[in-house]
Amino acid sequence: MLPFEGQVVVITGGAGAIGLATAHLLGEQGARIALWDANAAALENAIAELSGRGVQCTSHAGDLSDESQVETALAAALTAYGRVDMLVTSVGVSPREDAISQKLSTWQRSLDVNMTSIFLASRAVVREMIERGIKGRIVHLGSIMGLSGGGLYPNLAYHATKGALVNMTRAMACEWADHGVRVNSVAPTWVDTPFIGALKADAEAMQRISEVTPLGRLATPDEVAHSIAFLLSSHSAMITGHTLPVDGGFLAK
Ligand SMILES: NC(=O)c1ccc[n+]([C@@H]2O[C@H](COP(=O)([O-])OP(=O)(O)OC[C@H]3O[C@@H](n4cnc5c(N)ncnc54)[C@H](O)[C@@H]3O)[C@@H](O)[C@H]2O)c1
Repeated sequence: MLPFEGQVVVITGGAGAIGLATAHLLGEQGARIALWDANAAALENAIAELSGRGVQCTSHAGDLSDESQVETALAAALTAYGRVDMLVTSVGVSPREDAISQKLSTWQRSLDVNMTSIFLASRAVVREMIERGIKGRIVHLGSIMGLSGGGLYPNLAYHATKGALVNMTRAMACEWADHGVRVNSVAPTWVDTPFIGALKADAEAMQRISEVTPLGRLATPDEVAHSIAFLLSSHSAMITGHTLPVDGGFLAK
C-alpha cells in the first residue's frame, strides 16, 4: 500500500515549481490531487503532466486571495473527491524592494497573497476536515526569510509575511489540535525555480548564495517536496506547530 493511497491533497500555488514537484511526489505515493493556482496556462500543463503519469488530478484557476475563489475551488474539489485530507499552501510573491521606496499597493499585495490566501485556504479546508472527522494535515511554504531579518537584499514585505507564517502555523496548530489536525511549515533557502529567475541570472548573487549557505548550493524543488511529504505523513505524527528549515545550514550560521 502506498503511503498516501486514496488521500486527497489540495495544493495552492500548485502550478508553481515547488507545488508541482510536491504534486508529483504525492501522486506517485497514491494521493489524488487538486491544484489551485492563478496561472491558468501553467495549470493546464501541470494537469497534462500529472495525468500523463496516471495521477488523478483536478484544477482550479483563480486568485486565491479572493474568498469567493477559494470557496469555489473547494466546492469543486469536494465534488470531484468528496473529501480533503491534506493541504499544502505554496502560493507566494517576493517583491524584493526596499521598504522606503515600496508602494503601499505592493506591500498590501504581499499580505494578500502570502498571508490572506493561506488563512482563506486553511479555514475552508479545515472546516471540511472537522465536519467529516478527518485528521487532516497542513504544510505551509515559509522561507528562511521568515526566520531571519537579513538576506541578499532588502525585502521587508517578504520577511514580514513569511515571519507571520511561522506564528500562523503555531496558532493554527494549537487551535486545531483537538480535532487531530496537524499544521507545520517548511522554510526553504533559495530553491532552483523561476521564483528566483532574476537572481539566477546574476552571477554575483549566486556567488553570495553559495557563500552564505554552508552546503554551498540552491535547494531543488524535489528536496523541498520530500520535506513536505514527511510533514504530511504518519512519520511526523507527533509534530505540529513546527517550521522546518530546508536551508543547507543557512540558519545554523
Ligand atoms: N523558490 C525559492 O527560492 C523559494 C525559497 C523559499 C520559499 N519559497 C516559497 O515557496 C513557495 C513556492 O515557490 P516556487 O519557487 O514554487 O514559486 P513559483 O512562482 O514557481 O510558484 C508560486 C505559484 O503561486 C502562484 N500564485 C501567486 N499568487 C497567487 C494568487 N494570488 N492566487 C493563486 N496563485 C498564486 C503562481 O501563479 C505560481 O504558480 C512560495 O511561497 C515561496 O515564497 C520559495
